[in-house]
Amino acid sequence: VKKLHKRHAREGRPVARAAVLGAGTMGGGIAFTSALRGVPVRMKDIAQAALEQGLAEADKQLARQVRNGRLKPEKAQAVRAAITVQRDEAGFDEVDCVIEAIVENLDVKRRVLAALEGSVGPGTVIASNTSSLRIDDIAQPLARPENFVGMHFFNPVPVMPLVEVIRGSRTSPQAVSTAVAYAAAMGKVPIVVQDGPGFLVNRILTPYVNAFVQLVADGADFEQVDRAMEAFGWPMGPAYLQDVVGMDVGAHVFDVIAAGYPARIRPVERNAIRTLVAAGRFGQKTGGGFYDYE
Ligand code: CAA
Ligand code: NAD
Repeated sequence: VKKLHKRHAREGRPVARAAVLGAGTMGGGIAFTSALRGVPVRMKDIAQAALEQGLAEADKQLARQVRNGRLKPEKAQAVRAAITVQRDEAGFDEVDCVIEAIVENLDVKRRVLAALEGSVGPGTVIASNTSSLRIDDIAQPLARPENFVGMHFFNPVPVMPLVEVIRGSRTSPQAVSTAVAYAAAMGKVPIVVQDGPGFLVNRILTPYVNAFVQLVADGADFEQVDRAMEAFGWPMGPAYLQDVVGMDVGAHVFDVIAAGYPARIRPVERNAIRTLVAAGRFGQKTGGGFYDYE
């Protein structure tokens, strides 16, 4: 594996500076992990509150690492200084890779990424952290689709090792190598997967979540389902997992994958996740979902 990563590092564009679009659950985690591993990041969001929350989360993580003796205070300060936040794309022309982590909506991603191409250099790799949308679909309006690749991280980013690197039909081998090498430099386990709704992991996770909402629609208590799955040996049950992922994100992902494989997934019309989305209970990020949080 090390040999393979070395080959990708040789063949890809070295990532010395990066940028992240979207400072939410995923963007904040990706920026923090990149900075921790020595690659400074410019993080852009359209919402000032999201930028502040992203930095507060980085501060919390760093303080914990210093407390645990895993990081020297000077190193923690350097990591923090390596994350700069902004509401525009100033300086994006100097970065080697931009990771997009905004809303899971095809039209929005297309519009934002087509505009982003005007702010970055001609060889900058643009990676989308999309959970489910086909890379070829997002790439459709791009002027340089060869520079565009999928880089699907998992939540919580600082601790989940896997990154799916998705090769679109027009993605260049150099962009794939850049994404693999950058993920490896962040301490992750990159795997290259084919393009298609949900890639690999979410094609497994979505039927599981659908089975869960079906159980609840049939009358099961979500807390009991969670306790059962924990006792079964999984780190968290499906309801708590939805709170971690974000109910809105989960619903978007579900719709894309259900539409992508209509013969295989039968959506549950009125279900607990849709009810929570309609109530604005998006999970941990809004203070409540299936469960309540302070
Ligand atoms: N951010 C940073 N670090 C975190 C964290 C977070 N949100 N949550 C936990 N950690 C760290 C803790 O600090 C702790 O580290 P140390 O040992 O160094 O102190 C370590 O992780 C273990 O934490 P805990 O003992 O408190 O909790 P745990 O044993 O339950 O492990 C977990 C936490 C690894 C997140 C585990 O619960 C887990 O694997 N959960 C499943 C998560 C999952 O399935 N994610 C995928 C979601 S789907 C997705 O991402 C794809 C998509 O497209 C929607
Ligand atoms: P989130 O709702 O937590 O954050 C999205 C952020 O993007 C918000 O802060 C929003 O203000 C910002 N934003 C919206 N439009 C923007 C723009 N034009 N420019 C800059 N910022 C903009 O969402 P999230 O959970 O971080 O998900 C982001 C992406 O990552 C989605 O594509 C999602 O499918 C994917 N993803 C999510 C998870 C998860 O578990 N939450 C896991 C893997 C992948």
